[in-house]
Amino acid sequence: MKTKFLEQSFATHFNAKPDFIVRAPGRVNLIGEHTDYNDGYVLPMGIDHAVWMALSPRADSTVHIRSLDLEADSTFDLHSLTKGEGWAEYVKGVAYELQKEGYPLRGFDAVMTGDVPRGAGLSSSAAVELATARAFASASGFDWQAARMARISQKAENEWVGVNCGIMDQMASAASVAGYALFLDCRTLEYRHAPLPEKVSVVILDTSTRRGLVDSAYNERRSQCEEAARWFGVKALRDVSVDDLKKGQGKLSAVVMKRAKHIVTENARVLESVQQMQAGDVKRLGELFNASHASLRDDFEVTNEALNQIVECAQEQSGCYGARMTGAGFGGCAVALVEEKSAQEFSGAVSAAYKKRSGLDASVYVCKPSAGAGVVERE
Ligand code: GLA
Repeated sequence: MKTKFLEQSFATHFNAKPDFIVRAPGRVNLIGEHTDYNDGYVLPMGIDHAVWMALSPRADSTVHIRSLDLEADSTFDLHSLTKGEGWAEYVKGVAYELQKEGYPLRGFDAVMTGDVPRGAGLSSSAAVELATARAFASASGFDWQAARMARISQKAENEWVGVNCGIMDQMASAASVAGYALFLDCRTLEYRHAPLPEKVSVVILDTSTRRGLVDSAYNERRSQCEEAARWFGVKALRDVSVDDLKKGQGKLSAVVMKRAKHIVTENARVLESVQQMQAGDVKRLGELFNASHASLRDDFEVTNEALNQIVECAQEQSGCYGARMTGAGFGGCAVALVEEKSAQEFSGAVSAAYKKRSGLDASVYVCKPSAGAGVVERE
């Protein structure tokens, strides 16, 4: 379906058949929140909502992209990149960082479309970045190295776009494998594909709330974590154990202590989650989800009322093993682990309960763990 649509749209805009179709997914984080910029552990997975590009290389250094969703065009020269505003900055930023790393790039013509909800905490921007990197790899003929491309895309977001994110989203979009979650060590970028337990569905619950001030609150959390790491005399909070944590009691400010407690206990929860996934203990996995939410609500303080409400609505349903907010927080989505056979019923029941409690309409996605950035076979 998607490939036919992309081929037809490419033909409409460029009067030719595209040479490549590439795709990069959004992600949902199962557990390990705000740990990535503390050199810690995360467990995200690529989702079946993605960004797609159909493209053909050009003989010159011009990039011409048509966004089918926004009905807008962007044209720029790879040798004279200048900053602007809007969706094309993610594309330009990746082009800039790739060239800075020494990749000789060829221009291309492309059409782009996506179905990752924007601003919901499902990493639509990482999906655009990795789809762009994949498009350049195809057009310019260089090998795909997932971790390297994720780093370059993260740099594009940090430095070109100006958002101070960690590495999780780009790694999930670059390196996920269908059917698996990605257990990632954010210090070394070593990763392992952890199989999802059988007969379990991952359900994303979008609160439909968005908060504008995420950036400043996110940066504030980062500096509080750095302050705690300095006090403990370590490079990052990843190096503090649950036992060591109490040494900070009464020495660090109450707020900084709470932030550190979240990070240190969350890292431990990720490690245990991976074990429980392997052991197939979904019940315990669900408990870890619930504990993660409580920690993000009470210690890291990055939930909002809507997230707390939707998580409670989810946790109350039979067939739900556990639920938690996912992503940066302050709005956006929660994620629930649900018995596969109850997933549809669960979705309806949570939407109704959430509507009653908050007055808001949730969007619910029963998700499949999907492959990371790649070239798509034609239908
Ligand atoms: C955002 C950032 C990630 C990560 C999460 C919180 O999604 O982009 O790098 O820090 O928040 O876990």
